[in-house]
Amino acid sequence: MIEINNVCVDFVSRRGATTRAVDNVSLRIAPGEIFGIVGTSGAGKSTLLRTLNALTRPSEGSIKVNGTEISALSGAALRQARHRIGMIFQHFNLMHTRTVAQNVAFSLKAAGWERAAIAPRVAEILALVGLADKADRYPAQLSGGQKQRVGIARAIANHPDVLLCDEPTSALDLETSATILALLKRINEQLGITIVLITHEMNVIKTICDRVAVMSGGKVVEEGDVFDLFAHPQHPFTQQLVSHTLNLTLPERLRQHLHGSLLKILFVGDSAEQPVLSEAAVNFGVAVNILHGKIEYIGERALGILVVQLTAKENPEAVAAAVEHIRARTAQVEVING
Ligand SMILES: Nc1ncnc2c1ncn2[C@@H]1O[C@H](COP(=O)(O)OP(=O)(O)O)[C@@H](O)[C@H]1O
Ligand SMILES: [Mg+2]
Repeated sequence: MIEINNVCVDFVSRRGATTRAVDNVSLRIAPGEIFGIVGTSGAGKSTLLRTLNALTRPSEGSIKVNGTEISALSGAALRQARHRIGMIFQHFNLMHTRTVAQNVAFSLKAAGWERAAIAPRVAEILALVGLADKADRYPAQLSGGQKQRVGIARAIANHPDVLLCDEPTSALDLETSATILALLKRINEQLGITIVLITHEMNVIKTICDRVAVMSGGKVVEEGDVFDLFAHPQHPFTQQLVSHTLNLTLPERLRQHLHGSLLKILFVGDSAEQPVLSEAAVNFGVAVNILHGKIEYIGERALGILVVQLTAKENPEAVAAAVEHIRARTAQVEVING
């Protein structure tokens, strides 16, 4: 369990000006979950993440990892605690003059492993991340995805409880990102390691996170179950992130020539199985024209999204009644115009 209580981080410039990078953040992260923190650049994500292993000290507040007050530790006790918290980075941070195996062995030596135990553990962990045949390569001889696998192997070799991931896929192409996210998910499931992952991409959150906090201007503006956040974003910043990700904007040309009511409808779970639109058409005599539709998979769950146009020739009230009928039977209806 990670408990972040009222954490603030201030940076003071040489001229004496203060920047509050993290502003009164409180979060609970349960053992074994994949917790995402999303926000645009400069939101304070990296600074917050770095307080979890005391690479950055909070100016106010406290952080407990498995009951230990991390923010109060120093010296040997802090080093000890850090060995139970792995970390990976956007740009991998590998040692370029050492081989893949030596990069991983280094972290085990630092954690006090006996010499004889290191080589077998390195072999085991490289096999787990799919790099068994790359042990003697140097980082420069690897692709980006392979470098991140080395970063992951190094971070989890010492059996940590927690893995901190700072934009782990932001330097990778889409396909490679997907394989790295799948590896992180497997590590979480097989080894039970709690993952805290920060990203500026909602797609990353959608793919592997259980819960998410949205950060803006140093603050957590919204947090919750990932599916709920996609289905019902509350804060305007979250709404903007979600609608950008779902990408449901209609071409301007199409919008200009539309008449009647344009609706965006979300279907969740059971509501997806009811003939809501045909009922609306039959009961109220409206024409239903489907303009855009997709099903988004958020983790394992489906979220259906349709953009439809409702028209009724001589009876505008029928459209309003049809909208109410649909609203009562689906997760969410947003009237885009009309
Ligand atoms: N070491 C530092 N010294 C001074 N300001 C910093 C430092 N690290 C981060 N900041 C500032 O704190 C804010 C948050 O940065 P950061 O945590 O890196 O955001 P994010 O990871 O969300 O992009 C930014 O305004 C950044 O310029
Ligand atoms: Mg960052």
